[in-house]
Amino acid sequence: MSTPNILLNVNGIEVIYNHVILVLKGVSLQVAEGRVVALLGGNGAGKTTTLRAVSNLLAGERGDVTKGSIELRGERIERLSPSDMVERGVVQVMEGRHCFAHLTIEENLMTGAYTRRDGKAAVAETLEKVYNYFPRLKTRRASQAAYTSGGEQQMCAIGRALMANPKMVLLDEPSMGLAPQIVEEVFEIVKDLNTKERVTFLLAEQNTNIALKYADYGYILENGRIVMDGEARALRENEDVKEFYLGMGGGDRKSFKDVKSYKRRKRWLA
Ligand SMILES: Nc1ncnc2c1ncn2[C@@H]1O[C@H](COP(=O)(O)OP(=O)(O)OP(=O)(O)O)[C@@H](O)[C@H]1O
Ligand SMILES: [Mg+2]
Repeated sequence: MSTPNILLNVNGIEVIYNHVILVLKGVSLQVAEGRVVALLGGNGAGKTTTLRAVSNLLAGERGDVTKGSIELRGERIERLSPSDMVERGVVQVMEGRHCFAHLTIEENLMTGAYTRRDGKAAVAETLEKVYNYFPRLKTRRASQAAYTSGGEQQMCAIGRALMANPKMVLLDEPSMGLAPQIVEEVFEIVKDLNTKERVTFLLAEQNTNIALKYADYGYILENGRIVMDGEARALRENEDVKEFYLGMGGGDRKSFKDVKSYKRRKRWLA
């Protein structure tokens, strides 16, 4: 049995693509209700794969959870469909902000409400709420998504997820390709949604700096394994994290595992 306030419990999952490519090698993580949790790591670490495993989007990629379990409020969810997940309040915002280019911002947002069964008035209310959080989207509501900026498209992708009235949003690499100021703006809104609407976030980021600034807790993923986790503040102050992920140490950025102090600490982690 999991603790009552643990919304998501990923327990030792292994993920294999195409029956042969082992990508996640026993990943465990927990997301407590109402928190912002960051999943950090470089290219190919397995962040997106972890999010896909939770939202059940692996099948479309010929991926499979072959070991371990995933629980949402104690219910096993590995065998559910992506739309079952949406119905349970879990929505993923995919990497690369997949908006429908030929639809307007508002049409894009409305596609996020397809699972709603609570009527037009309630959906319209959510749309207003989304516009409240993202005033830029309101200004651009009638523009074709293809002609909006990268930041607006990322906001649109998050806004569309919110249209499903989620309890939890899985946010994949929200900072990707955006100017620092826009990244801050997006993360400010994420934090606002978390505080005011009590939306729980699990976000994958290569941008450790920004993620740890806004998250409560972080997990560092390397080569399909969690190598470290902790409260965001503690991770921000950790010397190894500073050196390898916050760019404060200088020198070559090798593997996190090569850091001497990390090796020393590994005894406690194992
Ligand atoms: N559909 C797929 N088929 C086969 N291998 C895949 C597939 N998707 C991802 N992989 C492999 O799985 C590993 C982890 O990829 P994943 O996309 O989860 O990493 P990531 O941490 O999200 O990286 P990035 O920061 O670059 O987005 C990589 O080696 C990648 O090549
Ligand atoms: Mg990724």
